[in-house]
Amino acid sequence: MCGIVGYQGREGARDILIEALRRLEYRGYDSAGIAIWNNGTVRLARRQGKVSDLAEAIGDDGFNGSMGLAHTRWATHGVPSERNAHPHKAADITVVHNGIIENYLELKETLKEEGHTFTSDTDTEVIPHLIASLLSKAGSFEGAVRAALRMLKGSYAVGVIREGEDILIAAKKESPLLVGIGDKEFIIASDAPAIINRTNRFIFLEDDDIAVIQKGTLRITNLDGDEVERETRSVQWSGAMAEKGGYRHFMLKEIFEQPRAISDTLIGRIQQEEGEILFEELDLPDITKVRKIWMVACGTSYHACLIGKHIFEANLRIPVETDIASEFRYRDPILGKDDLVILVSQSGETADTIAAMKEAKKRRLHTLAICNVLGSTLSRECHSVIYTHAGPEIGVASTKAFTTQVCVFFMLMLYLGKRLGALDNDDVRRLIGELRKVPHKIQTILDASSSIEDNARENMHYRHFLYLGRGINFPTVLEGALKLKEISYIHAEAYAAGEMKHGPIALIDENMPIVFVSPRDQTYKKTCSNMEEVLARKGKVLLFTDDTRHDMAGRVDALFVVPESIYELQPILSIVPLQLMAYYMANLLGTDVDQPRNLAKSVTVE
Ligand code: G6P
Repeated sequence: MCGIVGYQGREGARDILIEALRRLEYRGYDSAGIAIWNNGTVRLARRQGKVSDLAEAIGDDGFNGSMGLAHTRWATHGVPSERNAHPHKAADITVVHNGIIENYLELKETLKEEGHTFTSDTDTEVIPHLIASLLSKAGSFEGAVRAALRMLKGSYAVGVIREGEDILIAAKKESPLLVGIGDKEFIIASDAPAIINRTNRFIFLEDDDIAVIQKGTLRITNLDGDEVERETRSVQWSGAMAEKGGYRHFMLKEIFEQPRAISDTLIGRIQQEEGEILFEELDLPDITKVRKIWMVACGTSYHACLIGKHIFEANLRIPVETDIASEFRYRDPILGKDDLVILVSQSGETADTIAAMKEAKKRRLHTLAICNVLGSTLSRECHSVIYTHAGPEIGVASTKAFTTQVCVFFMLMLYLGKRLGALDNDDVRRLIGELRKVPHKIQTILDASSSIEDNARENMHYRHFLYLGRGINFPTVLEGALKLKEISYIHAEAYAAGEMKHGPIALIDENMPIVFVSPRDQTYKKTCSNMEEVLARKGKVLLFTDDTRHDMAGRVDALFVVPESIYELQPILSIVPLQLMAYYMANLLGTDVDQPRNLAKSVTVE
């Protein structure tokens, strides 16, 4: 997830853009860059590292002008480095971009044949080359941008300038972009917090909008060139709220970002018509020789592994062993010579997970990372890596990283299933179809979040909670309970529902709410029986299910229904109300939600 900003107005663009970049840094950064237009010429500066490194590099030596673009990068294609940093320039066209261009390889090939030379590994660099190559045919700068955008597949928010023309063009599809309207100035930005110090009046661009800013005027058209009307909205946010996109906490923002994070993780990888999954970055040894797959991680990432095991074993019929990284590294696990070891980590810096990876490498096994941070230690040192494109996760309690990790496991299962002959094209097509519905289904849960908040208010005074689920939803309840204890400090324990009678049942009385996750899958009847046992002991049941006509509806204390999905994907839906419940309880109790006591986002020591 990158941050982009652009300025056209009467004041010097440099300080305005640098200040906006500082405000965008929370979106993640590994490099930053700026382009300044001054009397028709464009100067560029890019640096790996923080915005402050860039600011220092450009200094005061006349690097200023009335128009400019800037970018803070969170790498998705190509390692963090100066040459991969934005803006990217080709001929007289300069571009900043947020999003993923799915067909960049094809476009790059064609452009290379036309004689274009590329200097970065990014998908973005094709955009300025494409615009430059279309200029003469299109007849105008605006026409060339429009023609180029029509050829792009994937997602983008872009800012484009050209030497010699006092015009700033902004456009978006699936990635956020807005135009701030200031005093005789326009500022484009990925989000309002970046520019809230200069204006609180915004036009939120819609997909396929092209905004043309020229000599103090703004015109918005669609991809066909027809003008479109967009409402100007005023936003009343405090500085701290603005940084969190209007949410009270980063964690809440990140929970609400899940539809977007999942869509970004799928982009460029699913080919539904062909029934194929593309993992360009993957370089696995002969998968037919693999006798066992290991999934190793810590914390929330470990819970994703537990779900991954169900997804893999149900479809691939290969044994999967899951392990907590701190156990794996010391217990001398029995590893077969062709085993595959998958290490999962949001940060890619967790000390135990890195040690587990080293142990596996020492035994000469192929290591595959599922990771959210490009260029992190784990992603660099594993033999292969698949990135979750969740964007930076700032709240200590992991949310969007978890759901995107499960999506990657699902896609990897499809990918391996094809290669092992366990799945055919029709199976993969159908399963991709189910996966594609997930972001929308999550959105419907988020839209009903107020009912979860009401429920949290009713139950926040309890000091102990038990979470129960079966099958693939046993890990879901482990993760739900972890969320509650991490941020609200309420004691929450999770068990496989069938284990209830072997101990936890002794705890049940009217002061012990029991959270059940019970979709209508093969475990349904058994979980209903567990609920009966709880109710008989006056326990309070909070039921999360996909079944509006659940057998226990009307008898439980609270019922929350999530959309239906297939068995393998149900946890991604069921976890969302549990994340929300934990968040609302913690918020109502007044804890430090984003930085709960004693916890760290990234545990880089043992
Ligand atoms: C810490 C965080 C957890 C996270 C775990 C593993 O404990 O507080 O939220 O799940 O580390 O982190 P990783 O970055 O490896 O996924």
